Amino acid sequence: MNFKGTDVVSIRDLSRKQIEHVMDLAEELVPYASGEKRTRVMDGKILANLFFEPSTRTRLSFESAMVRLGGRFIEIAQPQNSSIVKGETLADTIRMVDGYSDAIVLRHPHEGAARLAAKYSSKPVINAGDGAGQHPTQTILDLFTIRQQAGGIAGKKIVLVGDLKYGRTAHSLAEALGMFGADLTFVAPPVLQMPKDTISQLEKSGISPHLSSDLAEEVSDADVLYITRIQRERFPDPAEYNKVAGSYRVDRSLLRDAKKNLAILHPLPRVDEISPEVDNTENAKYFQQAFNGVPVRMALILLLLGGDL
Ligand code: NCD
Repeated sequence: MNFKGTDVVSIRDLSRKQIEHVMDLAEELVPYASGEKRTRVMDGKILANLFFEPSTRTRLSFESAMVRLGGRFIEIAQPQNSSIVKGETLADTIRMVDGYSDAIVLRHPHEGAARLAAKYSSKPVINAGDGAGQHPTQTILDLFTIRQQAGGIAGKKIVLVGDLKYGRTAHSLAEALGMFGADLTFVAPPVLQMPKDTISQLEKSGISPHLSSDLAEEVSDADVLYITRIQRERFPDPAEYNKVAGSYRVDRSLLRDAKKNLAILHPLPRVDEISPEVDNTENAKYFQQAFNGVPVRMALILLLLGGDL
């Protein structure tokens, strides 16, 4: 399967077969991700991490992934210290970094930024989140975690809840879950429901997601509950945010009627959507999910840059 040089801007840039291949390789890479086994396969290669929006997990897990593979990384982690403040355009920044690295990871507040970067870069560009657009690598690690925790994806009842309008992880994941034949339910306050475009895309591929605003009702027969943060920074008006803040909260009482092996996932960071009392239940899988970012990103780097273990 040939991945070399592919840009990963939208989850639809990869086929279902390719995503499965990334996950299979990621599974093999778990002992390398945890440091139990060693490799230097990316020795001499440079990954450029360009983060124009805050990040903890995505940036650090890309860095950890590259270092675990024996490669190095360069980064813009504080855009206020880069030439962006002098008025440099994203296109020019990308043209420079193209010459300094072998692959570019970009997080940017504007939807479409990664697509633009891919146009100006001869190296693979990986979208690490573009505004309220997409976040494809988060999606692969989400799918990996679902497969690991629920024993498969097809036919599983997966409930996506929270800010489905502005949440880029929810957009990419919904599309991918459609490709994998999951049984989809979207729970959100009506103003934060999944964009119509995403729903019609799913319908075109034969998936009809169930829409609801009642979390308690949907949780009882769910296999996976994927909860997201209300994306405060994307609201044009703080008053609108205040109306929906705190809409959903997962606590022990909500889980009383849930399936015993319900897996609770969250891309993190959480604000108040999951009560800390849930953290030590068997259902809490979000920290495992965050770790899974390392083997999944190692697999992707290996496939995009080419190299055998
Ligand atoms: C998410 C993001 O940046 O889109 N975080 C992440 O990458 N794990 C989710 C969020 O910020 O709510």
